[in-house]
Amino acid sequence: MPTKRMEEAINDQINFEIFSANIYLSMVSYFESQGLPGFANWMRAQYKEEIFHAMKMFDYVLEAGGRATLTAIDAPPQDWDSPLAAFENALAHEKIVTGRINNLMEVAQEEKDHACQIFLQWFVSEQMEEEATVSDIVNKLKLVSDGGALFMLDRDLATRVFTEPAA
Ligand code: FEO
Repeated sequence: MPTKRMEEAINDQINFEIFSANIYLSMVSYFESQGLPGFANWMRAQYKEEIFHAMKMFDYVLEAGGRATLTAIDAPPQDWDSPLAAFENALAHEKIVTGRINNLMEVAQEEKDHACQIFLQWFVSEQMEEEATVSDIVNKLKLVSDGGALFMLDRDLATRVFTEPAA
């Protein structure tokens, strides 16, 4: 059973993962409005991934004998100045998430919750991957100088499929 402090910290992150999901879902709508279905597809997969993160934590709290609690979620932004601005927002957001996961790990260490430390290890690795992937797209977008290159990148991003990782 997690300590009260541990339970509250994970619950806070469950709600932040849902907030993350909503940001990316809002970006799906933005990219569709810009005529970029490949970018929208990529963000739809990202939305699913964030819901998966939230559910992974939700199920962990329940399995550990705690209580998962949902709170009000802030409204996500609705518009961005450009595809690059949206992906820069995504990268900045993922860096915040990484900081939050690291803080969670510190709470687990302070609470001497070894099971939770093992559980959080997956998220530590996942955040490295998340930042690297988004950063790669930001860099590609910085190189895009005309509509043709944006179209090619859109075609690229159209291929992303979210597959739930094996347990
Ligand atoms: Fe759930 Fe993108 O971190």
